[in-house]
Amino acid sequence: MKILMVCLGNICRSPLAEGILNNELTLLGKKHIVVQSAGTASFHVGEHPDNRAIKIAKKHNIDISKHKAQMFKHKMFENFDRIYVMDKSNYYDVITLSKNEIEASKVDFLLNFTNKCPNQDVIDPWYGNENDFEKVFTQLENVCSELARSL
Ligand code: 4NP
Repeated sequence: MKILMVCLGNICRSPLAEGILNNELTLLGKKHIVVQSAGTASFHVGEHPDNRAIKIAKKHNIDISKHKAQMFKHKMFENFDRIYVMDKSNYYDVITLSKNEIEASKVDFLLNFTNKCPNQDVIDPWYGNENDFEKVFTQLENVCSELARSL
């Protein structure tokens, strides 16, 4: 099982989701499951995560500092079993690149895993403050712990 987390820049939400899910999977002894992340935009390719994301993860004993941003590429439909997007614009950008039903069926909103209300966005903390990063962390932790248990 290979899971890809996708956001816009791959420096805030999706590296946090990757780190949190990996941490949950490690705690459950499910280390064989592969989790990676990518962004739909190229602005930050090769960069480490935003310092605010690194800091909030570190506060919760998760190290995402070594991650380097990569851009979502069509081949990732082949390489991953599930592709979880953070918001509607990520969904649109990824689904537009899919070439058939099988590829499209791999894509879903991450929050659909737990939310009763469909297609909700993970808050984009880019223009926010530390408190917004804390909120994103909590949102991601809640869904990733359920996801990890289900895998
Ligand atoms: P992310 O956050 O998509 O969660 O990594 C953002 C990162 C960068 C920008 C926007 C959101 N940006 O506009 O550069």
